[in-house]
Amino acid sequence: MTQRIRKAVFPVAGLGTRFLPATKASPKEMLPVVDKPLIQYAVEEAVAAGVDTMVFVTGRTKRAIEDHFDKAYELEVELQAKEKLGMLDMVRSTVPDGVNCIYIRQGEALGLGHAVGCARPIVGDEPFAVILADDLIDGNGEEVLAQMTREFARRQCSILGVERVPETETDKYGIVSAEPLEDRVSRVHGIVEKPSPGDAPSNLAVVGRYILTPRIFDLLARTPADHRGEIQLTDAIAELLKYEAVYAHEFRGTRYDCGSKLGYLKATLEYGLKHPELGDEFLAYLRGKDWGA
Ligand code: G1P
Repeated sequence: MTQRIRKAVFPVAGLGTRFLPATKASPKEMLPVVDKPLIQYAVEEAVAAGVDTMVFVTGRTKRAIEDHFDKAYELEVELQAKEKLGMLDMVRSTVPDGVNCIYIRQGEALGLGHAVGCARPIVGDEPFAVILADDLIDGNGEEVLAQMTREFARRQCSILGVERVPETETDKYGIVSAEPLEDRVSRVHGIVEKPSPGDAPSNLAVVGRYILTPRIFDLLARTPADHRGEIQLTDAIAELLKYEAVYAHEFRGTRYDCGSKLGYLKATLEYGLKHPELGDEFLAYLRGKDWGA
């Protein structure tokens, strides 16, 4: 029986310390790129891939995310009264009809693997997606998760979204060793979390998009914490390889690491330039500036 991906898990409990003080009282996933918070880009990507249940694993500052995807009665009444119908539509369509948002609290900050494990009671026994919202990816026409669900439909196995990174940066990512099968698809043989450049098996990095089979939950439950006290999703995937095939998919698109200030600024620049209302004026502004170089 072929299965399809209906649920996406968004781990959003991280402290976001790199963006303090902006993230003191609100999660880093609520940082806007031009006019939309990162988490909304991630949800829209999931919707475009046919996902209808969004599972947010939240932490301390969860309120803003819940409120963002909730109905905003007062705002809607006011926009209606002022006949600002375009804005009303925008506010109403934050969550499209037929899409459910479910929130689970991650009681302790024990790492990405632990966060994903917290979603088990909702995901149950079906394959699911994981999206890390601070990896913002412009699919240039086809959203990355949709590219990956197409791959999943063929293979019915776990699929990791990967990209080649500079060899000096392997210590920022989960790195796979993989055997190329066909255009953009490899069979994964091993995966390690943040190896130093000298120890990395390749420069193929996992970047915030996963499709996982439900066996991962049993493996996460018995994955020990690492030297930093965190349960790593990467370690559970390494175990999964002993039981099932796992594939790496080199997606088409441009990724912005919005977990870093520089990546976030690059995203703001590029999305600003592509913005239908702002793009031309923004470009004219940039062109007219004396950069002194
Ligand atoms: C996490 C994962 C890592 C992955 C990365 C992608 O690390 O542990 O394997 O490559 O996300 O962004 P983090 O960036 O949370 O330290």
